[in-house]
Amino acid sequence: MATYRYTLAQRLLHWLIAVFVFGLLAIGFTLWTLGYDGTVQTFGNEVTGALYKYHKTFGILVLLLMLARVALRRARPAPPYDPPMSGLERFVGGAVHILFYALLIGMPIGGWIATAAGGYPIQFFDFELPGLVGKDPELSALVFTLHGIGGLVIAALLILHIGAAVKHWRLKDNVMERISLP
Ligand code: HEM
Repeated sequence: MATYRYTLAQRLLHWLIAVFVFGLLAIGFTLWTLGYDGTVQTFGNEVTGALYKYHKTFGILVLLLMLARVALRRARPAPPYDPPMSGLERFVGGAVHILFYALLIGMPIGGWIATAAGGYPIQFFDFELPGLVGKDPELSALVFTLHGIGGLVIAALLILHIGAAVKHWRLKDNVMERISLP
């Protein structure tokens, strides 16, 4: 069975990124729904500052982990399915996975650009990273809108992805073993 599984490093990356993305979506949608002032009124200045800081920090960590994931995937392509999947299942599953890769690399880069263009600091733990673009409020508003749409698309894809995972888990067709820990 071992050759039908992703490597341990790939499986660890999958679950670490999954936990980070859930946290990022939870904080992102909170900031979006309440806005800056509403977040300060609800949680106070200190917690609001931490929500922004850790959203940025863990977003950048997702970018780094995704780049590692792409490198590992290129070094060792996905193992074959056993039993094999139908053509339609491979197509839909493959499309969802490619969209995840694109969004989980694009979202942090977009968040970085929108934040810098808004004139805000790029916090990474207690460090400040370079902005990469100058202040440009229009660009910031546009890219934050795309960042929000990207978040909604990720949430919709997660529903499909988790739905498919539950289906495979109930079918006991070895698909969950490919990615499960340890
Ligand atoms: C996988 C990575 C990321 C995901 C899934 C994610 C998701 C989201 C979501 C769903 C929102 C709410 C929509 C919005 O306000 O536009 C949001 C807001 C925000 N994101 Fe991200 N994000 C990620 C990475 C980043 C990074 C790397 C930064 C900056 C370095 C960043 C900065 C922000 C900021 C400042 C907001 C609040 C915008 C506002 O208050 O108007 N994000 N994020």
